[in-house]
Amino acid sequence: MFGKYRVLLAPMAGVSDIAFRTLCREAGADMAFTEMVSAKGLSFANDKTRHLLALAEGERQVAVQLFGHEPDVMASQAAWIEDMMGESLAYLDINMGCPARKIVSKGDGSALMKDPALAAAIVRAVKGAVSHPVTAKFRRGWAEGDETAPEFARLMEDAGADAVTVHGRYAEQLYRGAADWGVIGRVRDAVSVPVVGNGDIRRGADAVAMAAQTGCNAVMIARGAEGNPWLFSQVQAALAHADEPAPPSIEERIAMARRHARLLTQREGRNIVRMRKHAMWYMAGLPGAAAARGRINYCTTLEDFDQVFDDLIEIAREHS
Ligand SMILES: Cc1cc2nc3c(=O)[nH]c(=O)nc-3n(C[C@H](O)[C@H](O)[C@H](O)COP(=O)(O)O)c2cc1C
Repeated sequence: MFGKYRVLLAPMAGVSDIAFRTLCREAGADMAFTEMVSAKGLSFANDKTRHLLALAEGERQVAVQLFGHEPDVMASQAAWIEDMMGESLAYLDINMGCPARKIVSKGDGSALMKDPALAAAIVRAVKGAVSHPVTAKFRRGWAEGDETAPEFARLMEDAGADAVTVHGRYAEQLYRGAADWGVIGRVRDAVSVPVVGNGDIRRGADAVAMAAQTGCNAVMIARGAEGNPWLFSQVQAALAHADEPAPPSIEERIAMARRHARLLTQREGRNIVRMRKHAMWYMAGLPGAAAARGRINYCTTLEDFDQVFDDLIEIAREHS
């Protein structure tokens, strides 16, 4: 199933909205995830939850990630998503990796790694309710040092998962330390369905190394793309053994930030507040960034952001 989808934008709550997906796709992401969506929230027809599923005009190859722990609710909401999204939907994924306390405390996300039977029941129920592929995204294991991912992956495959994604950290690790890519290879050996490798891809060479070391069928990128959609073009070039495009200039970084801000306002005015963290990421390491950071926290309109960006360009010119 990943013949066409080799470089994927990861699901990122609060980040992988229409604006960010648009920029990452333009840069070369083969497929993009929505932010994770609560099955329970959808079942209450919660507007905020449904809003997370809004797509860009003509957007295709979208994967939707559900979180929850009740097989029947997950199944009915997966069927609703399939109906609603039609051709835009590439596949449905179940979140079994989120380590956030408010998620885990309800038995969702990576808590499912502690209850493989329930995780398998969810995959089975969702699989029975939809005709699209169903996948599971999980971590190396729950407790640090207790690698359960290969066995867990086998159970998910037996339950009907069409592919699995592995992030090489334990849930207890949160985002600390380095991702272990060895586990991706061990999951690859354990199952016959496609395996997506995830964790710490920051440059084109990382994707090439992960693919070579693990035999994974696709790579998934999250934090490396923050403020850096260009990473997708670099990864695509590296995987194709072509020369990687040069890193963006300061002007290109600021131009991307401006475009990002505009895309956010097109959806909904209040979304512009989301631009604060993106702006910080685009500016990281630029001359004048430290001073601009404080101002960004007070930006509430497109004009506010543009003013900060204008000043950064000015400072960059003075430095060059
Ligand atoms: C801000 C943020 C939000 C995330 N939200 C989700 C999510 O909704 N679902 C999920 O499965 N993983 C989520 N993740 C985890 C990423 O998808 C990915 O597995 C992890 O960041 C490791 O990949 P990376 O090293 O490329 O960042 C999130 C990560 C970050 C940084």
